[in-house]
Amino acid sequence: MGDAVAVWAVVVAAGSGERLGAEQPKAFVAFGEDPLVAASVAALDEHPAIDGIVLVVPEGWEERATFMCDEIGAGKVAVAVPGGASRSDSVALGVAEVPDAAALILVHDAARPNLPADLVDRVLAGFADGADGVVPGLPVADTVKRVDGAGRITETLPRAELRAVQTPQGFRADVLRRALAADDRASGTDCASLVERLGGDVRVVAGDPRCLKVTTRADLERALELRGDG
Ligand code: C5P
Repeated sequence: MGDAVAVWAVVVAAGSGERLGAEQPKAFVAFGEDPLVAASVAALDEHPAIDGIVLVVPEGWEERATFMCDEIGAGKVAVAVPGGASRSDSVALGVAEVPDAAALILVHDAARPNLPADLVDRVLAGFADGADGVVPGLPVADTVKRVDGAGRITETLPRAELRAVQTPQGFRADVLRRALAADDRASGTDCASLVERLGGDVRVVAGDPRCLKVTTRADLERALELRGDG
């Protein structure tokens, strides 16, 4: 993607992270010296292709988030806004703050603190031949089954065709805005699924195992171990 295209990032950090069992929201749990969310915000802030960042945080955490951005010198963060009930609601509230001049929007989970610069490069490079969206994905190691309500297997999915997708997920801004306008957006567990529903052309590029999502304490420790690797 050429430098002329304005690229903004929306970092969603408004989840409660109950499975982590911490007193504060997941994004503000300590990750080394800083809150978890600081790591991916810093990575995006340092990336030369990113022009601006919108941070979406739990209601009441906006000031703390702004202070944190000052502390880490993340000057590209334009605003920290409160999120919504679902991830998609939080993304929509963040995207609403992205200027119209942005041609591409990357949506990133604060729960993925390790964001290597070359992962952002791959997502942006994936737009070269006209995709609506580009998401990073990894091959799946386990065999994945579809089951019914009684736990009976109804299908074994062909593993070679499966990818576990990560963030940052990149989209043409107009397509993402349209996808987020859907009434049933809350049922989408990622942004790509909302764009897929519109019939959008979403591609998968190689993900990065370091960019794992922190859900449990063990994930947090694993993410810290992987930090700075490679
Ligand atoms: O809950 P889960 O780990 O899938 O959340 C993925 C990301 O979405 C996290 O970074 C979380 O903070 C964010 N999120 C949000 N608003 C919600 C729910 C999740 O910003 N209502």
